[in-house]
Amino acid sequence: MKIYADNAATTKLSANALRAMMPYLEEQYGNPSSLNSEGQRAKEAIEGAREKIASLIGAYPREITFTSGGSEADNQAILSAARAGEKAGKKHIVSTAIEHHAVLHTLKKLEKEGFSVTLLDPHENGIVRVPELEAALTPDTCLVTVMTANNEIGTVQPIREIGEICRAKKIPFHTDAVQAVGHLPIDVGADRVDMLSASAHKFHGPKGTGFLYARRGIPLTNLIEGGAQERGRRAGTENVAGIVGMAAALEESAARMPEVAPRLAELRDRLIRGLSEIPHSVLNGDPVKRLPGNVNFCFEGIEGESLLLLLDDRGISASSGSACTSGSLDPSHVLLAIGRVHDVAHGSLRLTLGEDTTTAEVDAIVTAVKEVVAHLRGFSPVWRDLAEGKSKFIL
Ligand SMILES: Cc1ncc(COP(=O)(O)O)c(C=O)c1O
Repeated sequence: MKIYADNAATTKLSANALRAMMPYLEEQYGNPSSLNSEGQRAKEAIEGAREKIASLIGAYPREITFTSGGSEADNQAILSAARAGEKAGKKHIVSTAIEHHAVLHTLKKLEKEGFSVTLLDPHENGIVRVPELEAALTPDTCLVTVMTANNEIGTVQPIREIGEICRAKKIPFHTDAVQAVGHLPIDVGADRVDMLSASAHKFHGPKGTGFLYARRGIPLTNLIEGGAQERGRRAGTENVAGIVGMAAALEESAARMPEVAPRLAELRDRLIRGLSEIPHSVLNGDPVKRLPGNVNFCFEGIEGESLLLLLDDRGISASSGSACTSGSLDPSHVLLAIGRVHDVAHGSLRLTLGEDTTTAEVDAIVTAVKEVVAHLRGFSPVWRDLAEGKSKFIL
């Protein structure tokens, strides 16, 4: 038995996306910047993909810049707003402590350049407090960047409320929507979003392809200098097949969302109910305002890494925290920010379901996690101390 429950790390390439890509990897391999007919066909394919993606998020085609993925889009959005802010004499940025490292590390870099950054801690349920965000804004604020949905605990933020506040104060608003695009409805106009990052491999598109939406009038700074591709906003020969595959994958995900999202949410809630039966455990993040496929738990008295490896032995692919932090011994910054203490944060497990997940698989995951947690607790000195009353249970 093999169960893939790590869809927040990456998703399987859809057959439709692969089919759409193949001609651009085989016979139609022209360079979109070439004036010959092969090049022009490649250019048409890119522009078709741009139109498709723009219409799926409520944008104009000219507002879409293709990138190598979510990290690049995040970097470009934040650095662009910072450079524009600098020109206007504004050097303050508001964000949250639970952003992806593509955002947090870019903000760190800007701090070293003299920017001041306010990182808001969310509620214990992982949702940002909007009044706190509003109170953090100053006349010096040149950017607010808040993710649409969290990659670890799946919480969905009140993006529209934040967008409205920022628009009223004329502060540019960026959202890292890498985990949301293809899974939740996105409308950049209604949400008052000025910049939005997305990544194809999170919605059954190919890896190494993403896009940055930047509203008309929002200036973008190049991260990569060179040719005039992407209207001078991103140099380098375009990943034609990747871009075409991304558009096909997004179109398919958007079309299937009304059917997939409620089914996934049902499976998610079934998994949450099953894992909640494990004593001294806690669900991380809001039980309702979360991505349809995201489940994240902490189990007291065990190490998340051991849990992962034993589940992998049983054919279940899961994750502890985000894929980028797995393998490091630091507990997840997201779990710490929602108030989990180090010992508890270490015992975390993220299971992210996909549209192929079945009820039988969810039940098999519940059985396996129950058995593996009990097994690990059986020889955990931390658990023994807790069970013998030498230390106090936190959960
Ligand atoms: C919320 C979030 N932002 C950004 C990224 C980075 O995206 P990419 O892998 O396309 O660079 C990820 C990937 O895990 C993510 O989950």
